[in-house]
Amino acid sequence: MSLNDLTTLKFEEKDGVGILTINRPDKLNALNIRVLAELKDAAQLLSKMSLKGLILVGEGEKAFVAGADIVEMKPMNAGEAYAFSHLGQLASLGIESLPYPTIAAVNGFALGGGFEMALSCDFIFASSKAVFGLPEVKLGLIPGFGGTQRLASRVGTARAKEMLFSGRSVKADEAKEIGIVLEVFADKDELLAGCETWFEGVKKNSPFGILKAKLALTQGLGKTLEQGLMIERQEFGNIFSSEDMQEGTSAFIEKRTANFKGK
Ligand code: COA
Repeated sequence: MSLNDLTTLKFEEKDGVGILTINRPDKLNALNIRVLAELKDAAQLLSKMSLKGLILVGEGEKAFVAGADIVEMKPMNAGEAYAFSHLGQLASLGIESLPYPTIAAVNGFALGGGFEMALSCDFIFASSKAVFGLPEVKLGLIPGFGGTQRLASRVGTARAKEMLFSGRSVKADEAKEIGIVLEVFADKDELLAGCETWFEGVKKNSPFGILKAKLALTQGLGKTLEQGLMIERQEFGNIFSSEDMQEGTSAFIEKRTANFKGK
């Protein structure tokens, strides 16, 4: 199984950064079982690649992803729905656990499961056409791919509850104001260029340092401060035996540019 075998996703690599495109534009990239299974498999394959980062994007001009596939979901019984939710959660966990920075590049609709997949990336950049929301309660549903948990840790519990209970959508500017989105770009081309520029800006940093910072932050989420600080000092101690730490500190002292190997 390789990334080229995927039928609902497209993968390309540009200057060491992966671009994973959810490719079902006739259904606004809605997440059915097949897309979710491929996202899960893709995350596993991507986790073994030495990339500088990943950009997650939706095919077409209209949507990042307009949610879980409502037509496929409707006839499910409780057991099938539980398995569907679990599959979506495994896909989102796979993306969240990638060992390098990930950006969701959101152009158009990021609703329901689409917003949830975007939230599994480290952060979100958007075009001015982006629309975010968890409209599940309008369908008698609740989010099932991590949205009830991850939105709260991104924007705080009160704002997350307000969005969950109202099911309302927020446009790019408000999404930036409340902390869903970090940067807003004029259109999809500028959005993708903005993601690439961001990766360009961090490429001189230690990939191993970035990975350990990501691990310390992610593993500390939901823990007590004491547990989080324990994780941080363990990673801080571990990193002193890395080649990157030796190289970075030597380069500073020798007044030269560091040449990191990522280990
Ligand atoms: N599941 C299944 N199919 C979906 C879908 C979803 N979540 N979102 C869009 N589609 C399909 C539509 O059924 C339509 O298919 P068709 O051409 O075979 O009829 C196609 O994608 C295009 O969508 P359409 O609704 O015609 O586009 P629009 O511009 O009029 O509206 C939205 C766009 C996003 C407002 C609308 O598609 C929508 O409300 N989608 C559902 C959003 C949602 O509730 N997501 C959470 C699901 S839990």
